[in-house]
Amino acid sequence: MQAVILAGGFGTRLRPLTLNRPKPITPLCAIPFLRYQLALLRAHGVHDVILSVSHLPEAIRAVMGDGASEGVRLRYVVEREPLGTAGGFRNAAGLVDGRVVVLNGDILTDIDLSAMLRFHIARGARATICLTRVEDPTVYGVVELEEDGRVRRFLEKPSPNQVTTDTVNAGTYLLDAELLELIPSGTVYSMERQFFPDLLTRRVPFYGWVSDAYWLDIGTAQKYRQASRALLSREVRLPVTPPGTIGPAGWVGDRVVIAESAKLLPPVVIGEDCRIGERAHVGPFTVLGAGTSVGADAVVVETICWEGVSLSEGTHLIGSLLGQGCRIGEHAWLGPVVLGDGAVIPPYSRA
Ligand code: GTP
Repeated sequence: MQAVILAGGFGTRLRPLTLNRPKPITPLCAIPFLRYQLALLRAHGVHDVILSVSHLPEAIRAVMGDGASEGVRLRYVVEREPLGTAGGFRNAAGLVDGRVVVLNGDILTDIDLSAMLRFHIARGARATICLTRVEDPTVYGVVELEEDGRVRRFLEKPSPNQVTTDTVNAGTYLLDAELLELIPSGTVYSMERQFFPDLLTRRVPFYGWVSDAYWLDIGTAQKYRQASRALLSREVRLPVTPPGTIGPAGWVGDRVVIAESAKLLPPVVIGEDCRIGERAHVGPFTVLGAGTSVGADAVVVETICWEGVSLSEGTHLIGSLLGQGCRIGEHAWLGPVVLGDGAVIPPYSRA
């Protein structure tokens, strides 16, 4: 079986982090996000993967390459302008046939794709959508099912009084490649708003399969933090581990220098070439990207730093999210802020 990963969106809700780095390769526990999805696919025997990209395609290609290091064959289809989720799938038409797994490139999940495939085959489905239960369905695509699992209705981001079920579109589909003919080429077309409703109108055998596996879309800063936490606490079962060696506090990369009086509170990921100064406290639930330096007496709790961040002496960060190369001046105290790449915060700031 082949897979298409939809990875062409602008990731506007995760700005400023996605201005220079598309959401599918934002690092989670110091690993480009797509690697988690490739691990899931590989675990279920899918080794032929097409990345449907548009926003900063070369950045994705530079990080993911041809997939050889991930044990998969990766190919790319590029839209000059984003054509929407269905348009992105349509763009892969020349490369796929038979049954195809389609994944949104921003969901962290360990769903049992093999079980979903068994369901798809047993029902004689031509399209199956994975559904997950969420507390607040109003920000998702709600999917109502018939008793036998056939999809009855789609409600994209319904108002609270329209919500009839807590099962929502989990951004994972099994589709017959022949259905690609239903998607017009070269125009913006939405999976959720156009393609799926069209399948219902045409009475295509279209089923919903409910999964209780871990599932989260990483589309906002709050969810991105939640995803990092879930990986650190091993709530998600995927065969990927952060770079470095596992120790009592978490994963510590090569060439890391930690002062003797510094404390690491588990779980943490400390990327390669990081330096942690005297009496600093790092963790719990903290990820330091490669080459990050933490000054003496700094406190870094539930914070995610991308690569090359500099935290000066006496900084306090709690719940912060810092893009690549941020520089935080001495004794600055930051809460749950999101700072874009290269932000410079003067000493003694409070935010
Ligand atoms: P927001 O702008 O924050 O909504 O993020 P997004 O652009 O990623 O949109 P959304 O979360 O709805 O997209 C779900 C998945 O589909 C993501 O993995 C996107 O990369 C992907 N996607 C969204 N739009 C397109 C598109 O036009 N083309 C392709 N190829 N993929 C898309």
